[in-house]
Amino acid sequence: MNHSFVDASHVIGSQQARDNIIETLLQSVDGENVSIIPIVGIGGIGKTTLAKLVYGDQRIATHFELKLWVCVSNVFQLDKVIIKILDSASPDQRHADMGIDQLQRALPEALNGSKYSLILDDVWSEDPRKWGELKTLLMGGADGSKIIVTTRSQHVAEIMGTVSAHNLSLLSHKDCLSLFFKCAFKGQQEKQNPNLKRIGEEIVRKCKGVPLALITLRSLLYSVTDDHGWEFVRDNEIWKLEQKEDDILPALRLSYEHLPSYLKFCILFNFPEDYEMADIELVYLWMANGLVQSSNENQELEDISFRNFFRDFTEYGGNVTCKMHDLIHDLALSVTQNECSMVRTSTQQIPKSVRHIFFPYPEKIFLNPYTTWIACEPFALLCK
Ligand SMILES: Nc1ncnc2c1ncn2[C@@H]1O[C@H](COP(=O)(O)OP(=O)(O)OP(=O)(O)O)[C@@H](O)[C@H]1O
Ligand SMILES: [Mg+2]
Repeated sequence: MNHSFVDASHVIGSQQARDNIIETLLQSVDGENVSIIPIVGIGGIGKTTLAKLVYGDQRIATHFELKLWVCVSNVFQLDKVIIKILDSASPDQRHADMGIDQLQRALPEALNGSKYSLILDDVWSEDPRKWGELKTLLMGGADGSKIIVTTRSQHVAEIMGTVSAHNLSLLSHKDCLSLFFKCAFKGQQEKQNPNLKRIGEEIVRKCKGVPLALITLRSLLYSVTDDHGWEFVRDNEIWKLEQKEDDILPALRLSYEHLPSYLKFCILFNFPEDYEMADIELVYLWMANGLVQSSNENQELEDISFRNFFRDFTEYGGNVTCKMHDLIHDLALSVTQNECSMVRTSTQQIPKSVRHIFFPYPEKIFLNPYTTWIACEPFALLCK
């Protein structure tokens, strides 16, 4: 499965938004060969999901000669973004070793005057110069080419957009209910126990219309069949923690608190945002720390993916990779207070609080003579 795929039958309440955006994509705009349409909204509201719905639509496949999907994430580095675009255009070729000059020539060549649609998912950089550099290279498409940008930042939308932004609204209460109850019940307990329905409705209100909060708690309660379990979630103290208006951490935090320890531990490793990890890497982490036995490794990954803490599951010839959701990353930081850390070539110092460190690229680290770390307390080392 490709990470730009979404099953439209699982998406609730976005069909109108999808059709509006598709209409804009199919229009040609006089005087502009490439238009840029921002999709803006808070974390977990469904920007990426909406972009996937659009990207997977047959009308787009028919209208554009080239479809490209790139997850930009919070480091906007020109060479990295170009590599991702080229990888999306020709997945069979290797672009990672190309120098910046070569990349800057290769991108317009890859677009080669064709009418393309490009999704730049999860853009954070508010630096107009960085965007300007990339934009120049993207202008080589045919008239009618379109770029969709998803971002949490209105400022990014203003810098990048050439048409007005599509601001995503919170789900209506009705849509929240259908999303939450879609498969909240494992068996028939909804019918046997109308109390669960009532408690569920109260939990839904606490999610404030944010799909990620709803599906996270839905997964959490999936196998809970008694009133007490549902009441525990509804009445939890976590909801009372001070939170910003757009903060959905309470729902995620609640879900995190209920994870078995081996799954909690995996979240605690402070994987960089947008780090693409292989399923086997996660399993090694758990095994090396005595948290799971090799015999039940598949079950563990199913459990955790089921709980929506990871996104962008991609299959490469039998191996699955995934990324931690950005908000889970925030959660990990708030929970661990930096007890677990990942060491990369850029790491100069390990905070004193760290007790577990993980080397995703040991060969690079150990060959770099300039890497020095200061760590005063004992800690566990783990290499891939
Ligand atoms: N309308 C919807 N119906 C069903 N599920 C949804 C809907 N919108 C979002 N989701 C689910 O909610 C989760 C979060 O959505 P998504 O990743 O699209 O949010 P986002 O706005 O892109 O967040 P971020 O700002 O962190 O990138 C996903 O697992 C997605 O499947
Ligand atoms: Mg997103």
